[in-house]
Amino acid sequence: MVVYLRGDLGAGKTTLVRGMLNALGYTGRVKSPTYTLLEPYRAAGMDLRHFDLYRLHDEEEWEAAGFRDEFDGQNIFLIEWPDKAQDFLPRADMEIMLEILPQGRQAEIRANTEMGKRCLEQL
Ligand SMILES: Nc1ncnc2c1ncn2[C@@H]1O[C@H](COP(=O)(O)OP(=O)(O)OP(=O)(O)O)[C@@H](O)[C@H]1O
Ligand SMILES: [Mg+2]
Repeated sequence: MVVYLRGDLGAGKTTLVRGMLNALGYTGRVKSPTYTLLEPYRAAGMDLRHFDLYRLHDEEEWEAAGFRDEFDGQNIFLIEWPDKAQDFLPRADMEIMLEILPQGRQAEIRANTEMGKRCLEQL
């Protein structure tokens, strides 16, 4: 399951991931993968991978870090700044677009695949 998280700097992408993990029962700290690019989590029996690709340079860095191997068909991916890797990232099952409002945020959620649609229907 691949979820792209879109929105400007500070739109709330990391905060949303934190909320999702907390909702799954994760009680540890959820920090932004700003410099590590990837933070792995295990929650509710699922393996989640939170990426922030804002600082990803190129495909070479992606390969060298072994990120391709993470996409094993089992993990769940929450990916900030997917455009930084659009040429080699798997396509999104779901995309969440966040917009800053005067108060709070607006989320637009789009499902691109059957799995994404099934997931969206459950929300
Ligand atoms: N729904 C919300 N309502 C109010 N404030 C929010 C909301 N979501 C996030 N914020 C606040 O906005 C700030 C930035 O949030 P966050 O770090 O999640 O953004 P981001 O989209 O991940 O940014 P970046 O692109 O830099 O990674 C934080 O101070 C956070 O508390
Ligand atoms: Mg973030």
